[in-house]
Amino acid sequence: MTAARLVARCVRGIEEVLAEEVCGLGTVQAVGHREVRFTARADPAVLGLTTADDVFVIAAEAGGIGRARADLNRLRCAVAAADLERALRDRERCGGMPGVPTLDVSASVLGRRAFNRYDLEDAAGTVLARRLGLPYRSRRADARPPAGGLSWRLTVVDDRVTVALRIPGRPLHRRSYKAASVPGTLHPPLAAAILRVAEIGAGHVVLDPCCGAGTLPIEAAGTGARVVGSDVDPAAVAAAVANGADLPVTWSVADAGALPLRDDTVDRVVVNPPWARQVVPRGRLAAHPHRLWREVSRVLAPSGRIVALLPDRHPPAGLLAERTIPVSLFGSHPVITVLRPG
Ligand SMILES: C[S@@+](CC[C@H](N)C(=O)[O-])C[C@H]1O[C@@H](n2cnc3c(N)ncnc32)[C@H](O)[C@@H]1O
Repeated sequence: MTAARLVARCVRGIEEVLAEEVCGLGTVQAVGHREVRFTARADPAVLGLTTADDVFVIAAEAGGIGRARADLNRLRCAVAAADLERALRDRERCGGMPGVPTLDVSASVLGRRAFNRYDLEDAAGTVLARRLGLPYRSRRADARPPAGGLSWRLTVVDDRVTVALRIPGRPLHRRSYKAASVPGTLHPPLAAAILRVAEIGAGHVVLDPCCGAGTLPIEAAGTGARVVGSDVDPAAVAAAVANGADLPVTWSVADAGALPLRDDTVDRVVVNPPWARQVVPRGRLAAHPHRLWREVSRVLAPSGRIVALLPDRHPPAGLLAERTIPVSLFGSHPVITVLRPG
C-alpha cells in the first residue's frame, strides 16, 4: 500500500514536539509554521496524535497564487486537477467517516492580496462541490457550516497553496472527555506536549498539584504512570473527576502550598499554575505564590523533573530552566519550561 501524504496542524511553538510524535507513525517531510507534513501508512493510528490540533490528507499543492484576483483561477485549476478519489480513499483508511452530507472550506492566507479568505474558500468550494456532487456551505459572513460535512483546508504561504481534507469529523483538539471545564483550562494538545517534554515513563509517579478540570492528569492516564491530580478548589476537582471518570488517576482536594505528600516521592510534576491573570492563586498560594515551587521541589525525587507552563521565560526563584519552548495560544505567549531545583 502506498503511503498517504498528510499534514498535522498544531499550536505555534510545539511543531518540533509534534514532529517527534509523528516520527512514531511515519516520515516527517517538513516542519513549518503551525504544521508538520509527513507520509505514513493510511491507518486510523493518525487520529491518535495527541499534540496535533488536527490532521488532514494533502489533496493538492500548487504555485502561482500571487496577489492578483486572477490568481484565484490557478487555485480553481489545482482543485479541478486534484486526485480527489485518492484523497477520499486515504481519509477513510485513516478513520474518516464516509457518507458526508455537505462540504465546507476554511482558508488561511499570509500577506496582502487582492482577495480575502472567503474568496479563496468559495473559489475552491464551488469546484469541489461540482466534482463531488455535494452542496457547498460557505463561511462568508462568519456563517458556521453544519457539523459532519467534508471539511477542506486551504493554506496559502508565499505563492503556494495546499489543499487538504480533514480526516476526523471534528478537530482532534476537541477531546470527548472534556465535558466539565474551569477558567484557564488547558488546550489538550498543549497538555499533551507538556507531558511529552516531561518524558514520563511507566511506573513514574506524576503529579499535577493545580489540576483544574484535569487535562494534564487525564492526558497522562495512558502512559502507565501512577498519576495524581489535586487542586485547592473542590469544584475544580469535581470537574476533573467527572472528566476523568474510570481513568486510573488519583484525585484529591489539596493546597499546593502544603502538599499532603512525602519528600522525594514524585518523579514528574506537570503544572499549569495560577498566574493571577485568568485564575488567582488561592489558599496558601494567595499570599505566598512561591510556596508552590518550594512544595513541588520538596516532593520531587532527586532525579525528578518539573515541566510547567509559565507566563514568561523567567524561571521561579530557586529553580533552573533546562529547556524553554515559547508557544502562542489565543493571543497569549506562555512558555513550556523544564525546571530542576537549582
Ligand atoms: C490555570 S488553572 C489550571 C487549569 C488546568 N491545568 C486545566 O487544564 O483545567 C490553575 C488552577 O490552580 C488552582 N489553584 C489556585 N490556588 C491553588 C492552590 N493554593 N493549591 C492548588 N491549586 C490552586 C485553581 O483552582 C485552578 O484550577
